[in-house]
Amino acid sequence: MKKLARFVLTSLFAPALLLVSLAALLVAPAALLVAPAALLVSPAAMASEGGARLDTAPINQTDVISLQRGARTFANYCLNCHSASLMRWNRLEELGLNESQIMDNLMFTGAKVGDLMNVAMTRKDARKWFGAAPPDLSVIARARGADWLYSYLRGFYRDPARPTGWNNTVFENVGMPNPLWQLQGERVRVEQASKGVESKEGHGAAAMAVKYEMVKPGSLTPVQYDEAVADLVNFLVYMGEPAATTRKQIGIFVLLYLLALLPLVYLLKREFWKDVH
Ligand code: HEC
Repeated sequence: MKKLARFVLTSLFAPALLLVSLAALLVAPAALLVAPAALLVSPAAMASEGGARLDTAPINQTDVISLQRGARTFANYCLNCHSASLMRWNRLEELGLNESQIMDNLMFTGAKVGDLMNVAMTRKDARKWFGAAPPDLSVIARARGADWLYSYLRGFYRDPARPTGWNNTVFENVGMPNPLWQLQGERVRVEQASKGVESKEGHGAAAMAVKYEMVKPGSLTPVQYDEAVADLVNFLVYMGEPAATTRKQIGIFVLLYLLALLPLVYLLKREFWKDVH
């Protein structure tokens, strides 16, 4: 009886454990890789279809100070029109803010700290005022990608032909006025016939070189403005999956754990099989 139990344990249990460990070792990295890969695919596809060149967003999800600054810009400049209805205010406690900091610095609408980031404006009004309803921004970074957002929020210029007076290099004829114009300043689009290009191209239409000129500086310098937008985009990406950083850390921990377990399990198997042969 004792022998049988031992046989079952050694011949079935130990190899099974070994197999499971091995399989987990193989599957875990794949799982770690798949999620970011899925994130990468859609923005890449979007970029090619839009035409405008996108700048790479210099963001870092582990930089909590940057995320805090981004959250602040977001609450101050975006939530008047947009909601983020998958996000609760007190989730910001994960970014190292305490309840009173969130209430005092970020919330202006009299909402409670456990509430969702909702917006007072109705979709109907929004359509009337801007021609389009501002979409919920909870997962906008997943839909558009960080680079698109970074380029879009830096791409506004004055355009008197538009109802809001603003146009955008990435999102042509956008319904959203530049929410950060006090920070960025006002730019205009300048078209110049560029010499030499016409003859090279070989067709009749005059080639135009387009550039954007600052006509009224904002309260930030262009470099500071880029940093502020990077922080904001960092926060938008965080909001798309607040647990992403934790998820990756857990993944790495699990891998290390399994790696540490592997030699032990192997030794155990050798020990069990020693007498059987
Ligand atoms: C004055 C209201 C208003 C404010 C403030 C505002 N937006 Fe918008 N936003 C809009 C409207 C309206 C649209 C829809 C534009 C369209 O579809 O033409 C829009 C569209 C967008 C889009 C494009 C969504 C898509 O994929 O089609 C993004 C991204 C965006 N807003 C981000 C922001 C961010 C970030 C802020 C804060 C810095 C902000 N918005 C502040 C009104 C606003």
